[in-house]
Amino acid sequence: MPSYILAVDQGTTSSRAMLFDRRGQVAGSAQQEFTQHYPSDGWVEHDPEELWQSVLATCREVLFRMPEGDTALGLGITNQRETTLLWDRATGEPLYNAIVWQDRRTAEHCQRLRDDGHGGTVQERTGLLIDPYFSATKLAWLLENVDGARARAERGELAFGTVDTFLIWRLTGGQRHLTDATNASRTALFNIHTQQWDDELLALFGIPASLLPEVRDSSDDFGTVEAQWLGGELPIAGVAGDQQAALVGQACFTPGMAKSTYGTGCFMVVNTGEEPARSRNRLLTTVAYRLNGRTTYAMEGSIFVAGATMQWLRDGLKLFENAAESEALACQTRSGHSVYLVPAFTGLGAPYWDPKARGAILGLTRDTGIAEIVAAGLQAVCYQTRDLQRCMHDDMQAPPGKLRVDGGMVRNNWVMQFLADMLGVQVDRPDILETTALGAAFLAGLQLGWYESLDELAALWRCETSFTPTMPDAQRETLYQGWLDAVGRVRSH
Ligand code: G3P
Repeated sequence: MPSYILAVDQGTTSSRAMLFDRRGQVAGSAQQEFTQHYPSDGWVEHDPEELWQSVLATCREVLFRMPEGDTALGLGITNQRETTLLWDRATGEPLYNAIVWQDRRTAEHCQRLRDDGHGGTVQERTGLLIDPYFSATKLAWLLENVDGARARAERGELAFGTVDTFLIWRLTGGQRHLTDATNASRTALFNIHTQQWDDELLALFGIPASLLPEVRDSSDDFGTVEAQWLGGELPIAGVAGDQQAALVGQACFTPGMAKSTYGTGCFMVVNTGEEPARSRNRLLTTVAYRLNGRTTYAMEGSIFVAGATMQWLRDGLKLFENAAESEALACQTRSGHSVYLVPAFTGLGAPYWDPKARGAILGLTRDTGIAEIVAAGLQAVCYQTRDLQRCMHDDMQAPPGKLRVDGGMVRNNWVMQFLADMLGVQVDRPDILETTALGAAFLAGLQLGWYESLDELAALWRCETSFTPTMPDAQRETLYQGWLDAVGRVRSH
């Protein structure tokens, strides 16, 4: 009888459930979008109940469609990282909406911490920078601003979690309060060297230790889904933040191998092996995965807005109706047009880390049309990837010579060719683009004994198309210089 692993990918704009067979092939999939709440400038929230319901609905849909007799052996969870939830341990009720990773409400708090000279300690211990992106100041905000939260936290009545932890809590009926090392490494409260929550950081951010989940390996026993939710019990056997899961799904297991995922944001992650590599260029050091108690580290460049630009051009400005149309429009533009779109809607991430920057379209001329603006939106993700590549080249002795790509936007051949041209390296697109969910399934599969080793997983990776650079160097540099000038115009400092 065929058996599968169910993977949940709880992302920023949608929840997805997918069934994978042992060869890593997709056997079923369901997706549901949910509401984005923008209560104030730079604030982004999700309703935890809507997240939960969307996860249940998508899982039920794929399991329901599974042929009679087929079985799901276990569950892997991957999730939007850093997004912060606080709930009542007795009832499981959240005290407030989930504060999403993109949310900038704690910019001033972060500025104060930086002004007080805490940046070095935070980077040294967590591999991160002091920025509203990470969970610590979001959690501090909840404790300060939700009525009674701090007192209740101090009495041990509340639980904190990123989305993985919240889902595990709900799925296990409140039996398990757990996270994995990749998700913990995005909170700014976790010491990536000792692999423990860090007491000094907890004191710095004013976080009571009683709120925190236990941190496990990425392939581990995360409890059992109660039968009431998915029609039967199911072991939760793999958990990782979505960008780390994509690194696993892309089989980047050797130091120097890199992937870039183009979802809502863009995250370029390179495996740096068993030693955490510190960036001089404001990239992040993070946990790639932790297996059998051994930590593999990664360097990461995080860009807040990639696919979200295209959503804005489509739904906000109504410049086109679907992704295929955006590719056709971009193909109409002459190469070397002068329009730049800097999508700093929620500030700029790596390597600028400027929460106050805001977006702009520059270089307009009388003949600029919809096609040029759409092309500029697509090109922005490539220029931003080049920003990250430049930092990695400076930080690493052996920077990545190729890039594996995934996420919705990489279906667009025009963008992939421009990306290869802008980076000057080969860009490889795999046959399975849902590498995030695949990574979660791989992690669960390791725990459940489907796979013996990472080599076995690496052998399952297949390239669908390689894009090789064809643009002359001088043109590449001129175009990129134009991007740097455009970014310089929107920065707040
Ligand atoms: O760090 C944020 C990241 O995990 C969100 O990923 O795919 O939802 O844009 P995505």
